[in-house]
Amino acid sequence: MARKVIIDCDPGIDDAVALCLALFDPRLEVLAVTATEGNASADQTTRNVQAVIEQLDPPRYPRLGVASPIEIPPPTFAWKLHGNDGLADIGYRVSELHHQHLSEKVICDVVRSSPDQVTIIALGPLTNLARALRRDPELATMIGQIIMMGGTVDGIGNVTPTAEFNIYYDPESARTVFQSATTKTLVPLDVTRKVTLFLDFVDQLPEETSRAGKFLRDILTYSFRVHRQNFGMEGIQLHDVVAIMLALHPELFETEPMAGDVETQGELTKGATVFDRRPRPEWQQNMEVATLVDVPAVIDGMIRGLRLAGT
Ligand code: RIB
Ligand code: CA
Repeated sequence: MARKVIIDCDPGIDDAVALCLALFDPRLEVLAVTATEGNASADQTTRNVQAVIEQLDPPRYPRLGVASPIEIPPPTFAWKLHGNDGLADIGYRVSELHHQHLSEKVICDVVRSSPDQVTIIALGPLTNLARALRRDPELATMIGQIIMMGGTVDGIGNVTPTAEFNIYYDPESARTVFQSATTKTLVPLDVTRKVTLFLDFVDQLPEETSRAGKFLRDILTYSFRVHRQNFGMEGIQLHDVVAIMLALHPELFETEPMAGDVETQGELTKGATVFDRRPRPEWQQNMEVATLVDVPAVIDGMIRGLRLAGT
């Protein structure tokens, strides 16, 4: 029986590669893909979700959710790892869709249609999940599990010295989700930044003659180029793909129960994730946190999983 999932994301190049893995793996039944603002504006990530699905043309089309802007957006960022449009500035065209619903409504409807069976995989800021939890107070008890890419345990951020992007972008929503009575697993930067891919990864993608092969090559060659030109880096990290791999291959990861929360006020620490790791913790454990990953096996799994999209 395939695992029912909703993927909430902010494409984003790594979100797009993660979607490709999920949409072609028979072990997952992607019931919905809901867009959230983050790597690009709400309108743009909504279009990007649609563009990714239309470019990949998966065997089963999921329901789509429309992102809406967050109330207090953080300052825009100088670096644009994903392109100004969030998808390598290629300018994918999308067909006109009607009767689309807000992401938080789609999340509530899909979870309610399969109580206790749906895993929500959150690959962007947690705005939609917090809105869904507020919209339907019973939802927390009906979600099977939340797997979220975000935060750090060691405190070394990426978008600021102390904060990871997904949490930093909407720390109030992240705190709402962290404090909710849902079963949660966090995949933090500590683990995702251990999985670095190099240019030979592109050679192992599906053939360029396939839709997926062409799409993945276009966005990933952009990512390699931006990392080299902007940061002098030969390798890239696809953080969201590592999070999807935990859903597909949990045996390649180790997790630990932890008590985590989110700093929402600090001048230097806003968006930081804080864990009570004192010898005698006083905070209540509220999530599993990925602490170890089998890097070679995860990379091999990514390559084999993406090849399914090229068949
Ligand atoms: O910090 C990594 C996260 O920020 C990923 O989800 C990536 O897509 C960016 O949004
Ligand atoms: Ca993302």
